[in-house]
Amino acid sequence: MKVLAIVASARKTGNSEILAKGMLSALPESVEKSLLRLDELTIEPCRACYACLGAGKECVIDDDFNRFLAQVRAADAVIIASPVYFLGMHTRLKLLCDRLISVLNESAEYSGRRCVVAVPYGVEGWQGYGVEATLSFARFLHLDVVGVLPVHAANPGEAVRPEILAKAAELARRLLPETAETPLLDGFASETAAISCTACGSGIVRLNEAGEAHCVLCGAIGQLHLASSSEPKLTCQWQVPEHFRYSPAGMTEHGERLESIKQDFIARRHELLELRKPYKAMEFED
Ligand SMILES: Cc1cc2nc3c(=O)[nH]c(=O)nc-3n(C[C@H](O)[C@H](O)[C@H](O)COP(=O)(O)O)c2cc1C
Repeated sequence: MKVLAIVASARKTGNSEILAKGMLSALPESVEKSLLRLDELTIEPCRACYACLGAGKECVIDDDFNRFLAQVRAADAVIIASPVYFLGMHTRLKLLCDRLISVLNESAEYSGRRCVVAVPYGVEGWQGYGVEATLSFARFLHLDVVGVLPVHAANPGEAVRPEILAKAAELARRLLPETAETPLLDGFASETAAISCTACGSGIVRLNEAGEAHCVLCGAIGQLHLASSSEPKLTCQWQVPEHFRYSPAGMTEHGERLESIKQDFIARRHELLELRKPYKAMEFED
């Protein structure tokens, strides 16, 4: 079995690297282990050319992205260790995430790989959407997320605590095929546990006046219930959408949606070019 650990942070021996190495070293010796530092890859931003749309097509940018994908495909399971930056996911992960249109239709190539995610953050209450965004990256890569560990650790080395390393080791063992899958995302978003989305685990919901909750990540819709006496006071009854966004069917559907937007552009390109012309001609000083 091969396990690939992906470290997003540029910090050498930082908390992400410590958590990734802690997890790798908790795996049996028979497991082939490798560690990939995203900081050592050249990954350009997506150019929105949509040349990668459609089954079997690769991103046309000549950098390390396709090699990154090949490394994921060569692994049987994946660890992602990536810190919260400005309430969201780390830049290195976002750069990769925006390139994943090319694999929307490739679930057969990627799914079946278990993944665990460790997310260090520096300030309690400042996790923002960083954990959810990191999980979203793993899911858009078709990985089967079997656990997540947010870790409060600001300075490099602060993740080295026995209780954290024990949790990281337990998480890593969920990658092994003989380990039964324990409940997904346990302990995650505990402050919103009663209303967290049961489809994807996210605690980030948008509310409307009709008493509905919308999961901003996976798109599930839930009915909120307010009880006057029992605890918890607020609960939510979630319905998993028919085409769950992160499922192979949901991603294929999104790929088809983008393909039809591309075809629409091709059909209307002359009209759109005319609309854009005055803006192209506008010049402003640097
Ligand atoms: C540019 C930058 C932005 C950060 N933004 C946040 C943040 O929004 N919320 C938070 O809790 N921690 C934030 N942090 C702290 C890191 O998440 C924390 O130090 C983490 O342990 C870094 O992991 P590393 O050692 O693997 O780099 C930020 C750190 C940096 C350098």
